[in-house]
Amino acid sequence: FLVDKGNHKHFMLKEIYEQPEVVARTTAHYLDMANGKVRLPAELPFDWAALPRISIAACGTAYLAGLTAKYWFERFARIQVDIDIASEFRYRETPMVPGGLMIVVSQSGETADTLASLRYAKENGQHVLAVVNVPTSTIARESHIVMPTLAGPEIGVASTKAFTCQLAVLASLAIAAGKARGFISGADEDALVRAMMEAPRYMNEALKQEDHIASIAKGLSKARDVLYLGRGTSYPIAMEGALKLKELSYIHAEGYAAGELKHGPIALIDETMPVIVIAPFDKVYEKTVSNMQEVAARGGQIILVTDEKGAEHAEVETVATIVMPDVPATIAPIVYSVPIQLIAYHTAVEMGTDVDQPRNLAKSVTVE
Ligand code: G6P
Repeated sequence: FLVDKGNHKHFMLKEIYEQPEVVARTTAHYLDMANGKVRLPAELPFDWAALPRISIAACGTAYLAGLTAKYWFERFARIQVDIDIASEFRYRETPMVPGGLMIVVSQSGETADTLASLRYAKENGQHVLAVVNVPTSTIARESHIVMPTLAGPEIGVASTKAFTCQLAVLASLAIAAGKARGFISGADEDALVRAMMEAPRYMNEALKQEDHIASIAKGLSKARDVLYLGRGTSYPIAMEGALKLKELSYIHAEGYAAGELKHGPIALIDETMPVIVIAPFDKVYEKTVSNMQEVAARGGQIILVTDEKGAEHAEVETVATIVMPDVPATIAPIVYSVPIQLIAYHTAVEMGTDVDQPRNLAKSVTVE
């Protein structure tokens, strides 16, 4: 497989720009676009309606894809989801109801803790479904069901296109589960599938913000700490933004549920502290506005990632606003991944760090 950077300065940037294409390829694999239905390529060895519970285990960015999926499975399929970091899950000796579904998410398919979680789940009578980018990997081989992400080889150590493809696969699966369990009508399924089909186009639009984001990154590169806030499915995206920023630029960053602000991180806020708020104009937007007001009252520097309606209703002064296209709620985490990746990328470039090979990190962690 020939892998080069093309015209891009780094593999990471190339992979960020590949996302509309690989997400389109991945959704085309799981969605019957002509008929507005999810079409899972594999026959599932269980009945969604009889499924007692879903568990998810993964590491790093893949874990955050899993956390996003928890919101989708609970909303669309009304099924309880336990999600855990694989290194915790594997040693917790958690009881599992036989016949449940364990989903492991991994780009490489070789992460030691995720593999150990998979084996524990199998020993405890779970159906194991793997969302992996490398179909020949150990995790793929040992799982009962494999749902590949069709992201192609990912070279940048910090995961980008594999993440958005993981989201696309997990959203498709959650819609299928909702339909099979009777919580989603045929018309709802059709609307959701159509929304998913639009994701690549919206991601292309989001990419147009690159120059604006590069100018914002100049200011961010001077920060010591950065806080990311989000609610609902924007919460895992806030965590992913913080993870990317610390991995690439070595600036300390934390992602928090916006509602948790007053239980700790608010103590850190002063006029030197950038606070990046991920907030599409959705049903929790107003709640996030009140959190932004708390930040603004303490002089925090708000960088708001929202859509046009959100920008109109922000009610606070921001140092910058990154305006995303107005997208259906389900695909917001996929589209909003683009600006948070670009923020981390450009801050790192500004600081002169090694974007594709950040210090101390490995692409695939096959040892504990
Ligand atoms: C490493 C990589 C991350 C990745 C994580 C999980 O930490 O640097 O980008 O998210 O491992 O890897 P996996 O291959 O299981 O997705």
